Amino acid sequence: MATLRLGSVAPDFSAETTAGAIKFHEYIGDSWAVLFSHPADFTPVCTTELGEVARLAPDFAKRNVKVLGLSTNDLTDHEKWVDDINRVNEVDVQFPIIADKERKVAVLYDMLDSFEHDPSNVVNGIPFTVRSVFIIDPAKKIRLILTYPASCGRNFDEILRAIDSLQLSDKHPIATPANWLPGEDVIVHVSVPTDKARETFPEVNEALPYLRFAKVPEDK
Ligand code: BEZ
Repeated sequence: MATLRLGSVAPDFSAETTAGAIKFHEYIGDSWAVLFSHPADFTPVCTTELGEVARLAPDFAKRNVKVLGLSTNDLTDHEKWVDDINRVNEVDVQFPIIADKERKVAVLYDMLDSFEHDPSNVVNGIPFTVRSVFIIDPAKKIRLILTYPASCGRNFDEILRAIDSLQLSDKHPIATPANWLPGEDVIVHVSVPTDKARETFPEVNEALPYLRFAKVPEDK
């Protein structure tokens, strides 16, 4: 198993999902993708997480992002559990959930917990998937990796915020500061001299020679 790093090509795979069989790269096409695993179907935190992802479906679509869930349960479990998710969260889960019973994708993406870490996460001698998130761009490069433990549900607003930051930094030579939210000032990339930045950005405020805040240029 190759180590997956930011900038690595996301490994391709074929899988069964609740939306039919997919080939991952083909499925992503020209979109961005969020591939996220959860430990197991019919568990409480996961039920809230997948409900939240379904609720945010229009926000992912607006950003040209396809979302795929994954656990090592089979399709029958996924389909039954989706009924629970929909009922309890008042949503309609439409995104595919991968049935990775053989743990092929989980191994490929290093999503499995270690045997030693939490014995309660080991079923039939095999550890659960942890709460992994991979944000993948249209070139199929991994742009962000998150790993959360079973006990901590993820903040999907943060995942949307990170996508906004990544997409903006692909368009402009910028980075985004701590706790940045879309619409707020950004940071001019260190590679851009301040005089050049003043030509490109509508407003530049030099707090330090290496920390220049700026308004984002309007889209042309
Ligand atoms: C949960 O989603 O609540 C959960 C999943 C696996 C282990 C513990 C909790």
